[in-house]
Amino acid sequence: MRIVLGVGGGIAAYKVASLLRLFTEAGHKVTVIPTEAATRFVGVATWEALSGNPVSNSVFDDVEKVNHVRLGHEADLIVVAPATADLLAKAATGQAGDLLTNTLLMAHGPVLFAPAMHTEMWQHAATQANVETLRSRGVTVLEPASGRLTGSDSGPGRLPEPEAIFAAAIALVQAPDDAGASPSAELPLAGRTVTISAGGTREALDPVRFLGNRSSGKQGTALAAAALAAGATVRFLAAHMDVEPPAGVELVRVESALELREAALKAAVESDVVIMAAAVADFRPAEVSDTKIKKVDGEDAPVVRLIRNPDILHELVERRNSEGGRQLIVGFAAETGDAQGDVLEHATAKLKRKGCDLLVVNQVGIGRVFGQDENSVVILSGHGAEPQSAAGSKADVAAAVIDRVGAELARVFPAV
Ligand code: CTP
Repeated sequence: MRIVLGVGGGIAAYKVASLLRLFTEAGHKVTVIPTEAATRFVGVATWEALSGNPVSNSVFDDVEKVNHVRLGHEADLIVVAPATADLLAKAATGQAGDLLTNTLLMAHGPVLFAPAMHTEMWQHAATQANVETLRSRGVTVLEPASGRLTGSDSGPGRLPEPEAIFAAAIALVQAPDDAGASPSAELPLAGRTVTISAGGTREALDPVRFLGNRSSGKQGTALAAAALAAGATVRFLAAHMDVEPPAGVELVRVESALELREAALKAAVESDVVIMAAAVADFRPAEVSDTKIKKVDGEDAPVVRLIRNPDILHELVERRNSEGGRQLIVGFAAETGDAQGDVLEHATAKLKRKGCDLLVVNQVGIGRVFGQDENSVVILSGHGAEPQSAAGSKADVAAAVIDRVGAELARVFPAV
């Protein structure tokens, strides 16, 4: 999604750097337009580095690109944070003295203001009237948070937390307008629900110990961000992860394979796509001790007997098929070639065994040095399409997988 992030001249501008990160990490393309005053708090270099795009606040830069018209016209969403009393007044009265106010007059998508100012300025009749005017035109103006202000006093006027602004912005794009149309309707997964499992399960031995794996959850997190950017509602089933789940997902925390199985089967019923990116333990201890297992001098060390965990991916496919469900089911596999076959032969056999629609195969075994090219995958289709390669950063791979999911979904289970 293309986002314009307008930054007003308030001390809270520094917090908007985190908001920008949330947008870019979720795969959105962000153009930052700080006001002249905003650049006295946070410099242009910061916005350029964090957004990866050139930054200007003048209508006289790059005139041939007609930015004062184009940016607002092309944006799927405009967010202004911090929205100062001055910016709210300018927007309410339709002023167009700089690039940001011009862009606001050209907005074709939803607009969200996140105000931040001193309590008395916020509560002033002039500001309240401007907020009322903007809201009456369909603009979303968040309530400021309450708490410690720039000085020693406190009250309403603090910028809402970046995560809260992010969630409100994403919800705004996904919400249908008065005519029942979603502003993000053209995005490939608009109106679709995607369940993604990520991270590594932990299988308890006793109340303090577990068997786990080294999955970081980074690929699953990147997939969730790519799915959000494609307009999907994302249910994120997070086993143990080294990274934070992306903001804007419906988060379900799980611990063990059995907990993940329950959460996945439940979420699948209401989903259009289920992506099993989690590293699920194939085995769990047969006995889980209620109390901490103690070492006893003179006794042998305990032997841990393992039993098989259910294959969740396979079960999702079986349920879908027996209940006539319409979820596109995607598995992940890490394969190495051996005497029995090469990576693709093993992966093709696994795709058949699991019965899923797509299998994303990490091809660490095809003569590549593990670690150097760990984000190189092949996407196999259970519906006869040619294998597709994707390589690059985890975000690049995630974008390719989500792209393919969108195409396969439209083919196999078109929206009804
Ligand atoms: N999976 C699952 N339930 C399990 C084990 C794995 O749903 N109990 C899912 C994983 O989330 C992943 C895919 O199945 O999408 C991986 O399949 P798996 O058979 O575990 O393959 P590998 O991990 O590659 O291991 P192996 O080759 O030993 O089968």
